[in-house]
Amino acid sequence: MTTATKTDLSVTLAGLELKTPLMSASGTFGHGLEMGNFVAPETLGAWVSKTVTLLPRHGNPAPRICETEAGFLNSIGLENRGVEDYEQKVLPTLKRAGVTVITNIGGATPEEFVEMAARLDGYDEIHAFEVNLSCPNVQGGKLPFATDPATAELTLRGVREATTKPLFAKLSPNLAGIGEIAKAVEAGGADGITAVNTLLGMSVDWRTQKPGLALVMGGYSGVAVKPVALRCAWNCATAVKIPIIGCGGITTAADVLEFLVAGCTAVQIGTASFSNPSLLAELPAQLEELLADAGVASVAELIGSMKAGY
Ligand code: SIN
Repeated sequence: MTTATKTDLSVTLAGLELKTPLMSASGTFGHGLEMGNFVAPETLGAWVSKTVTLLPRHGNPAPRICETEAGFLNSIGLENRGVEDYEQKVLPTLKRAGVTVITNIGGATPEEFVEMAARLDGYDEIHAFEVNLSCPNVQGGKLPFATDPATAELTLRGVREATTKPLFAKLSPNLAGIGEIAKAVEAGGADGITAVNTLLGMSVDWRTQKPGLALVMGGYSGVAVKPVALRCAWNCATAVKIPIIGCGGITTAADVLEFLVAGCTAVQIGTASFSNPSLLAELPAQLEELLADAGVASVAELIGSMKAGY
């Protein structure tokens, strides 16, 4: 590590030059630029959309958000207004955003993922796609795209043929061997991996005997999932050559750096933005301070620097 006073926060991710390794996590930061009053879009490394699907979706029945002792459960069910609305109302506002835009796409079949990528491929406002293979709140929580390597590879292969934009496959922590799925999406043509989506969880009130969520199970997120997410990100980083975007429980600048040391090139901030919507605006200065104190000139120096073994 070098001694320096000025720190460089920029990273290169699958050919994208990012000002910082900090991104919003899909579904936690508006659909368009609604959060612009809290975080100037141009200060983000990248902005990630809520999942967009071919047709509008009303999502799951309420209650579909439920607080827990640490973090919360969600069962949104990919509510969104569909790709036509995204094209007409959201994409034009992103033209002047001055930020790297990653559009998260969803589908119920491999063909739907492919159709989404093909339809949105021509928009210059979109710099990359995040392929949401891992929503736990649809298809009965069975996670068909995120638990079967053959389906994951087939889906990525189809999407790869439909677009030249960088593709990030968003994986699930809800399986034993995430490394196998990581290898499958790499073989299918993914340029990177987002590790990870939410953990399947539930809550119940013993007095009312009612579950916290109408559909009982949902995706658990927040600070408590950080060790699981970090382990998943590291599993992926050691299984594949493509870059990893860490996601799960990241709340502080130190958390960000831990994910980089474990092998991530960038990170996404999700649940923490609900308690502090300005967090993504505050983190760059906090990162600079930590790195300057440690004499690290560039955040990129830390990527994959973990020293395993004692
Ligand atoms: C949802 O809309 O249900 C959450 C999105 C996700 O977990 O991928």
